[in-house]
Amino acid sequence: MSAKMPVGVLGATGAVGQKFIKLLEDHPWFEVTEVAASERTSGKLYGEAVSWKQVTPMPESVRPLEVRPCTPELKCRIVFSGLDASVAGPIEEDFARAGYIVLSNSKNHRMDEDVPLVIPEVNPDHLGLITVQRRNRQSNGYIVTNANCTTMFLAMALGPIHKAFKVEKVFMVSMQAVSGAGYPGVPSLDILGNVIPYIGGEEEKVEIETRKILGTFNGKTVDLAEFPVSAHCNRVAVEDGHTESVSIKLAKKTTVAELADLLRNYSGIPQQLHLPSAPEKPYIVMDAQDRPQPRFDVNRSKGMATCVGRIRPCPILDFKLTLMGHNTVRGAAGASILNAELLKAQGLLE
Ligand SMILES: NC(=O)c1ccc[n+]([C@@H]2O[C@H](COP(=O)([O-])OP(=O)(O)OC[C@H]3O[C@@H](n4cnc5c(N)ncnc54)[C@H](OP(=O)(O)O)[C@@H]3O)[C@@H](O)[C@H]2O)c1
Repeated sequence: MSAKMPVGVLGATGAVGQKFIKLLEDHPWFEVTEVAASERTSGKLYGEAVSWKQVTPMPESVRPLEVRPCTPELKCRIVFSGLDASVAGPIEEDFARAGYIVLSNSKNHRMDEDVPLVIPEVNPDHLGLITVQRRNRQSNGYIVTNANCTTMFLAMALGPIHKAFKVEKVFMVSMQAVSGAGYPGVPSLDILGNVIPYIGGEEEKVEIETRKILGTFNGKTVDLAEFPVSAHCNRVAVEDGHTESVSIKLAKKTTVAELADLLRNYSGIPQQLHLPSAPEKPYIVMDAQDRPQPRFDVNRSKGMATCVGRIRPCPILDFKLTLMGHNTVRGAAGASILNAELLKAQGLLE
């Protein structure tokens, strides 16, 4: 019998769901035993229900699993959610109420006062909200969320900088990959040779989620970080990898070299605990003037690191830099899995 913990994937047929299946193949602690999705696919075998879009073959172990409806009757305690945001809210609540531990990628509960929105390298202490949530909602189950795929790289890079130098203002322009819109996503005739300067709801998510992640857990809820974030979000003809051009104003004086060293040498709890999905270095600081680039850098550290380049002075704010990361790995499924690994390491999956 396997000693691994059985886990389920909600929305297992979608873009993020498939990434969960791929990343959990051969995971040392977790084993996918349940897959669930909509009425369109439930009742079918996973191998037949899914239009598999990963570059590695579908794991043999999931092919024969029957796709189940997204109701809290799955034979596992932990569920990873890649559900469409139009349905994720109530489904995730049902599971948590029924005692399941839900690791969600959807926007629906990220800003709930008693729900942690966690990046393990940045704000692991926000997991303290689990106790509050369990008490508020009178359930042993709970929901933990990870950031929107654009927020992820911004908040991850700002984490150590805010701690050391106190961020006062943030301005960000994103160039976001088409895979961020799921499958089939943006029609090819809309995006080929084009830039779409609007992604519904994205700028608002980046502006508020960043402030929650860098906020302070006060024992009951999170006080949002006080600095304003101005985000401009664009969809570009890139397959995977969100790039972000960022300018920041800091309260304390520093230098380009100090900022680069801070990120280059940073080690968070996932690194110290050697969590299975943790990148050895959370930040890959690049010296070449023309990097990071999604084509060459998106799979660095198996897509779990934030690539940082072009740190330089900014004539309007203090510094500017370029960030890039894998939107469906560190920006989605990989982030949930790292959160689950931290929960396990802290005894919170009992
Ligand atoms: N793509 C990214 O880079 C990214 C990054 C971060 C967060 N997210 C978030 O992750 C979530 C999933 O995104 P995605 O890109 O994977 O979307 P997607 O490819 O459209 O997949 C959506 C999934 O939800 C299921 N679903 C739809 N309606 C349902 C219903 N009524 N009941 C149960 N299941 C239902 C679908 O099942 P069927 O196949 O049966 O229809 C499918 O498995 C979204 O909330 C998105 O905002 C995405």
